[in-house]
Amino acid sequence: MGEGNVVASGLSPLGEPDWLRASAGAMSAFGRADWIALDRQRDALLVREKPRVVLELFESLGAEPSFGYEINMQRHGLQSATCALRDGRDEETVVVALLHDIGFTLARDMHGAIAAMMLGPHISEANRWMLVHHPVFLDYHTPGHPSVDRDARERWRGHPHFEWTATFVDRYDQAAVSAAGEILPLDAFRPMVGRVLGRRNDAAGEAAA
Ligand SMILES: [Fe+2]
Ligand SMILES: [Fe+2]
Repeated sequence: MGEGNVVASGLSPLGEPDWLRASAGAMSAFGRADWIALDRQRDALLVREKPRVVLELFESLGAEPSFGYEINMQRHGLQSATCALRDGRDEETVVVALLHDIGFTLARDMHGAIAAMMLGPHISEANRWMLVHHPVFLDYHTPGHPSVDRDARERWRGHPHFEWTATFVDRYDQAAVSAAGEILPLDAFRPMVGRVLGRRNDAAGEAAA
C-alpha cells in the first residue's frame, strides 16, 4: 500500500515499509508472531524517535513566558548547558544540563525525576541521581526565600553523589538565570543530544535512595 493510500485509510505510516502491521483489531487478538515483531519494531523505532521527540519538547519551551526570572526555562537550560560546555564538562553532562528542567512545566514537583527517567538509560548513575535530587539541593541557594529549608539536602550528606549534585546545582543551575550570561543556540547542542540518547548505559538506571 502506497503512502497516500495509508494516510487515506486512517492507518499511520510504519517506521519501515516492510514492518509487520498488527491488524487483528485488538491486542488480545495479536498472536505470538505479532508480538515478536512488535517488540523488535518498537525498540528500533524508539531508538531513532526519542531524540526528535525530546528536542521538539525542549523547543516548545521557547514559546513559554518566564514566570519571573530574566529568562524562561528553555533559555535557563541553554545557559546551563553553555556554562557546562565552557567549563569543559563531558558531552553527557552538557546534555544533562540542557535537559535537567525539561519536565518542569509538565510536573514541577517531580521534574527532577522526569528528567532522570527520560535520560536514565543513557547517562551515568551520578548524573541520574543528581537529576532526581537537584530541586532539593537548589533550595540551599535561596537564602532570601521566606520559607524553604535550605538544609534539606543534608539528609544525603555523605552519599557518593552528594558533592557532584552540589557542584552541578551551584555552577549550572542556580546561576543560570541571567540574561547577561552566555546562551548558545539549541543548534549547538542538537548533535550532542543525538549522540547521548543514541547510546545505552546499562550500568546506570539502578534505583537510588
Ligand atoms: Fe530543576
Ligand atoms: Fe534548573
